[in-house]
Amino acid sequence: MYTPVLRRLVALGGAQGMRAFSSSATVSEAIKRITVVGGGQMGAGIAQVAATFDHQVTLVDVSPEALERGRQYMGKSLGRVAKKKFPEDPAQQTNWVDSILGRIQGSTELSKGVSQADLVVEAIVENINVKQRLFADVAQAAPADCILASNTSSLPIGRIFENLSAERRALAVGLHFFNPVAQMKLVEVVRTGENSEEIVQKALDFVRAIGKSPAVCQDTPGFIVNRLLLPYMMEAIRLLERGVADSRDIDTAMKLGAGYPMGPFELADYVGLDTVKAIVDGWYTDGEGLKGDSLFMPSPKLNELVAAGHLGVKSGQGFYNYKK
Ligand code: 3HC
Repeated sequence: MYTPVLRRLVALGGAQGMRAFSSSATVSEAIKRITVVGGGQMGAGIAQVAATFDHQVTLVDVSPEALERGRQYMGKSLGRVAKKKFPEDPAQQTNWVDSILGRIQGSTELSKGVSQADLVVEAIVENINVKQRLFADVAQAAPADCILASNTSSLPIGRIFENLSAERRALAVGLHFFNPVAQMKLVEVVRTGENSEEIVQKALDFVRAIGKSPAVCQDTPGFIVNRLLLPYMMEAIRLLERGVADSRDIDTAMKLGAGYPMGPFELADYVGLDTVKAIVDGWYTDGEGLKGDSLFMPSPKLNELVAAGHLGVKSGQGFYNYKK
């Protein structure tokens, strides 16, 4: 499992340089230039939203193909928003999408990509060693006053940055976005004991400047949302394992009985079963205050699905089948 991850990290230092996706804009006082590392669903979503609110964005990933996948995701998502914004005008829709994509440059070269950033947001694989090594490289190349942020779902913010200098750590926070980023209003702003009020304020200003609502949280496992959401999803899976009800009925019950937009199985498939498994396994084996907690005990059903490559919507099969 580590080999592709390490390959990916090495490739992030590779040298193919910047590629403009297409070009313009006004912004929040402190943070104007954002670099997002990782062009998956979350990273692309963050890049897209920052560019929508007139920031200049650099999206860094390991290969032109990965950047292209990110661009396709952003184009599709922006297209959905554009259709609502200009319902009668396809030309306006295209212009609007193009102008936003024009503010996003792709880069396969990490050091170049972060060299002028006011803020670097990491949205790469959920692995502490990989994230630490990424930020060691970022710290070599980013401006001294650059804010460093992780979009981790479950890892401690303090640990991700623990090997950096005290000056860098003072500027390092969690900015946790939700999927789909274009639609979900919340960003958790996670502060560590080393952040000044000024840095937290800058992070809050940025979150508001990109049209989101912040919730401030201390650096504890899962912050607010995932600390509540993961036990809920795992309890739903255990109801299924015990044969209390099938996934459809549990989802229907939570949607119609509790008013949730998705049931727990639809949501787990949407988030990705590999992600859900990585979070609960990490907490069960090593989570501060959560280690060995029966809430996060391994689930045979979840393990079986992930082992079979059934990761949810993104693989076409999870608790449900998404293949046409
Ligand atoms: N890009 C842009 N807009 C999107 C979008 C996307 N990828 N996905 C959905 N939307 C918009 C639609 O255009 C639509 O907009 P409108 O209301 O203005 O017309 C709106 O979202 C609703 O979409 P749909 O009508 O297509 O479908 P639904 O009503 O079923 O909503 C949903 C889809 C927004 C995903 C809704 O089901 C939902 O809110 N689900 C829960 C999502 C959630 O809980 N996310 C958090 C997961 S946890 C997480 O991310 C943390 C991580 O660390 C694990």
